[in-house]
Amino acid sequence: MAEAATYDVIIIGGGPGGYNAAIRAGQLGLRAAVVEMRETLGGTCLNVGCMPSKALLHASELFAAAAGKDFATLGIEVKPRLNLPQMMAQKADSVGQLTKGIEFLFKKNKVDWIRGAGRIAGPGKVEVTAADGAKTTLSAANIVIATGSEPTPLPGVTVDQKRIVDSTGALSLPEVPKRLVVIGAGIIGLELGSVWRRLGAEVTVVEFLDRISPGMDAEIAKTFQRTLTKQGIAFKLGAKVTGAKTTKSGVSLTVEPVAGGPAETLEADYVLVAIGRRPFTADLGLDSVGVTPDARGFIAVDHFRTSAPGVWAVGDVIHGPMLAHKAEEDAVACIELIAGRAGHVDYNLVPSVVYTAPEVAWVGKTEEQLKAEGRAYKTGKFPFTANSRAKINHETDGLVKVLADAATDEILGAHVMGPQASEMIGEYCVAMSFRAASEDIARTCHPHPTRSEALRQAAMGVEGWTMQA
Ligand code: FAD
Ligand code: NAI
Repeated sequence: MAEAATYDVIIIGGGPGGYNAAIRAGQLGLRAAVVEMRETLGGTCLNVGCMPSKALLHASELFAAAAGKDFATLGIEVKPRLNLPQMMAQKADSVGQLTKGIEFLFKKNKVDWIRGAGRIAGPGKVEVTAADGAKTTLSAANIVIATGSEPTPLPGVTVDQKRIVDSTGALSLPEVPKRLVVIGAGIIGLELGSVWRRLGAEVTVVEFLDRISPGMDAEIAKTFQRTLTKQGIAFKLGAKVTGAKTTKSGVSLTVEPVAGGPAETLEADYVLVAIGRRPFTADLGLDSVGVTPDARGFIAVDHFRTSAPGVWAVGDVIHGPMLAHKAEEDAVACIELIAGRAGHVDYNLVPSVVYTAPEVAWVGKTEEQLKAEGRAYKTGKFPFTANSRAKINHETDGLVKVLADAATDEILGAHVMGPQASEMIGEYCVAMSFRAASEDIARTCHPHPTRSEALRQAAMGVEGWTMQA
């Protein structure tokens, strides 16, 4: 076994948590290495998550616009033909360019990529097993665990990546399913369900709860569900899948009401299991430093420090939203603490986005959270039907909802369902990080005609002077 280099920081995992930690470490003059066992850098996000899903969402949205009434309404008459292999190839090409981009950033910041599976082998030691089985032991003053997450399995519905797939399989189906059943009305289910619906599949979403998108403001979620239903997605809420029988050509699912009652059978060509993700810490050698994950598999941290001195953790493997930009925030704060600086993340200001059409984006508290906290709040709302830019673009589904403290007017939450919501929510993130009042947005000039005017009109609504609805 070879004994190799000594580092200031060794990061296990090359996803958004790991690669951002490495880049920041390089910037701060720390000698850093990333151990990554995939053939490419970028983790779940770049390889089988954020980026390939957005590539398919973009392409399928344009296909549906051309195939349905949207283009015809604009006076553009076309008859599109789906070339699924090309749609998949352009996705793979973009992903390849992005993962190579991380390699470039590593070189630029003098970060070593150690290829192989990393395992903590006691304080300050990481053993790396390369693809050919060769083992090397590296030493470091600090080890950062950034090993991410994996899909949560559903007992009785075993993923075979042929007929029953998880998100990775659903990003590369070989054909458009005639009938796709999605288990779980969370972000993956609704994004990837939308992709295949737009390409022609009949999509049924089975959800355990009596609502879709847990975590989203309930009023927005209701409006969102109505829109998705109009797009042809069917929902079975308050229902659980209790068994699956796979044949060569499809799957029979047994579905039961959560509240009790007779079971029914749903037939599908493909089934997507999307009931959440769980931290990934298999074979990581945590016991060698006395770290034990909690009952749900998360590594407990205090400002990214685990219970073992010199061992830190960031991203999906620790508590908090499992989002790429949250992993990035963790990474920067963790490395700055390692470098002796101040590092801090305000988890209340981590935005969430569902990249459907329309998109849904939000930051801060939902109305339900404020009620549960007993906080007095005021609400301002504005529908996109009254926004001139959305109107001329025929994109009027959705609304903006702003929640502000009843006494101080501080913005507590912003919820946007509408076109380009993902691009617009940043305005509220910045405002809230400066602890702005809703009046600050209401009295800020916004360009006309833009969808962003809806953000301002909703803020005006908090004080009751929305002008354009
Ligand atoms: P990961 O990205 O999971 O990276 C961990 C890396 O560690 C992996 O590459 C893994 O191979 C490696 N690894 C694990 N164990 C070892 C080991 N022992 N040795 C070496 N390497 C190891 N988030 C968003 O913010 N926006 C989105 O639009 C979005 N879309 C998504 C779509 C899908 C379909 C999925 C599945 C996820 C999506 N996410 C999205 C979530 C996002 O991908 C994750 O939150 C993010 O990737 C977490 O980053 P991470 O660095 O903690 O872990
Ligand atoms: P999720 O947590 O978003 O949603 C899972 C859904 O499945 C929930 O509605 C839950 O009630 C339901 N569910 C759980 N068990 C069930 C069962 N047995 N039967 C039926 N329904 C059941 O998880 P999802 O969609 O798998 O995504 C995982 C994570 O990946 C997300 O939470 C998010 O952190 C990340 N992600 C983020 C994206 C984005 O930011 N746009 C896109 C995709 C994923």
